[in-house]
Amino acid sequence: MNRKSVDLKQFDISTLNAWNHWFLLTAGDFSSAKYNSMTISWGAFGVMWERPFAQVVVRPSRYTYQFIDTYPDFTLSAFPAGYEEALSLMGAVSGRDRDKIKESGLTPVKLAEVGAPAFAEAELIIKCRKVYYQDLNPDHFLADYVKESYPAGDIHRVYYGEIVGIEAPEPFYRPLD
Ligand SMILES: Cc1cc2nc3c(=O)[nH]c(=O)nc-3n(C[C@H](O)[C@H](O)[C@H](O)COP(=O)(O)O)c2cc1C
Repeated sequence: MNRKSVDLKQFDISTLNAWNHWFLLTAGDFSSAKYNSMTISWGAFGVMWERPFAQVVVRPSRYTYQFIDTYPDFTLSAFPAGYEEALSLMGAVSGRDRDKIKESGLTPVKLAEVGAPAFAEAELIIKCRKVYYQDLNPDHFLADYVKESYPAGDIHRVYYGEIVGIEAPEPFYRPLD
């Protein structure tokens, strides 16, 4: 993939449209071969505590939860067209039960800034260092569609990761004025 490191000030993404696409969330440590990935499509990008962040939500039942909870960082990988089957597999099968990363055909790659890997085939890689987490509080659910997302509990834990690096191709890159 034709990615290059992007100055965070020059990164340009439509924050709503970004989540029309599926990402792979990966947490753990590449060097010790302890990591896992899962498909996500809920989250946010923004600025908090004067730093750029990515926010993701992970249900405790996910195998990935153990990794994102234990390790200090995580990555988001977005793929070009043609990887739908791999992303469906990663969002339907648990790494607890099968070596789904191997089955997907995707290639985990080591990164300089964080211990969690991303994927060689990704067109966009966002590298995040965990800075905050919180469990959603059902007492604070104000809309029916929010309550209805949790018929069996398994309520999301929210993680904020400071964005510490981005690799992207030109469409995500906005030269400084
Ligand atoms: C499009 C899509 C989006 C998903 N988004 C999330 C999400 O934001 N949070 C979450 O906990 N699970 C989400 N899931 C479900 C997990 O990807 C799925 O349960 C996966 O098999 C968990 O894998 P793991 O057990 O290896 O962690 C999503 C699944 C799909 C297909």
